[in-house]
Amino acid sequence: MSAITAYNQTNPFTPMFGKVPAYMAGRERLIDEMVQAFELPDSNPNLCSIFVGARGTGKTALLTYLGYRAQQEGWIVADTTASRGMLDDILQRIGDAASHLLSADCSRKLTGIGVASIASVSWENNVASGNWRTKMNAIFSQLEETETGVVITVDEIDGDLPEVVELVTTYQHFVREGKKVALLMAGLPYKVSALLSGKSTSFLRRAARHDLGAIPDYEVYEAFRLTIEDAGKAIDNNALGLACEAIGGFPFMFQLVGYRSWNASRQDKTITVDHVQNGIQVARMEFEDRVLSATCSELSKGDMAFLKAMNREGQTPRDEIVKRTGKKSSWVSTYKKRLLEAGVIDEPVAGEFVFALPGAAEYLQEKR
Ligand SMILES: Nc1ncnc2c1ncn2[C@@H]1O[C@H](COP(=O)(O)OP(=O)(O)O)[C@@H](O)[C@H]1O
Ligand SMILES: [Mg+2]
Repeated sequence: MSAITAYNQTNPFTPMFGKVPAYMAGRERLIDEMVQAFELPDSNPNLCSIFVGARGTGKTALLTYLGYRAQQEGWIVADTTASRGMLDDILQRIGDAASHLLSADCSRKLTGIGVASIASVSWENNVASGNWRTKMNAIFSQLEETETGVVITVDEIDGDLPEVVELVTTYQHFVREGKKVALLMAGLPYKVSALLSGKSTSFLRRAARHDLGAIPDYEVYEAFRLTIEDAGKAIDNNALGLACEAIGGFPFMFQLVGYRSWNASRQDKTITVDHVQNGIQVARMEFEDRVLSATCSELSKGDMAFLKAMNREGQTPRDEIVKRTGKKSSWVSTYKKRLLEAGVIDEPVAGEFVFALPGAAEYLQEKR
């Protein structure tokens, strides 16, 4: 085959943090549930949602995607990341989103408001006196006549930031006042736990919590195959099985293995076992670099002692940890909680632990 007629399709995988993938493996039901809330918002509990997961489980991609779906349902979306200037940023984003919708002429539900008035709401409010709640109320009252709602998404939630606390407490007032508003947040498990245990944010304990756990293999299988086929190549069944095993239900690993296997296949139309084996090798190194090392650097000696007592493969019963560490049951409870919150382990069945990050057991073994 000459170089000109050879396959040269663009790699469809997205191994970059925050990037919305071609296929959101394993999130279909969750996405449907959320879209229903945008369609029929009346006191739907999912309008206040927290997405919880370790690094690389797809929190940012999901927030971005849900924001996009909300926009399609006529909501105005303000995407932000927890930070000092977050509240101003939200006002700004609402101004931008509203004018964007209008200029793109998707403003079915916004006909009552002029471009200028919406765009100026946020701007005027930035300079006007009054706190954030007052400024937001001014926006809501303009949007009300057209029944347009506001979705606020906050990534990398952190309860130590006063702005996050202010947002959450003010949101409570919006809800009580019957505003059409949704708050979607995402964060690492231990950050979310800290936020929920705060006094002023305790009402969030009633928010809908969605844990972004491991994606079932059959979903990985399907999404991996479709990503490749839609982009113009095919994959052997054996190669697909091998890829799924290495991915271990983990979204970031899905993209790394896919990206590297695709590249390894070069001009070939079909991705084979050889290509995937090569791909996995590179993907594992990248995963160590970008996820495992960052996660493990935050672990304490106690955490490590717990992990060391775990079986490298399959589940480890709680009793085994007690026996191997020689510690008390309360010690096991403490470290179990810490490691669950760090996203390093999972407890698929009560009292049975597994590693939650693909390759974590091997990585820790090498580090010891
Ligand atoms: N459901 C999914 N299926 C496949 N890949 C995904 C999925 N969700 C996210 N990804 C990919 O995983 C990687 C990590 O996603 P990201 O949203 O940045 O994770 P987090 O914010 O939890 O760290 C990105 O490369 C993204 O494209
Ligand atoms: Mg993220």
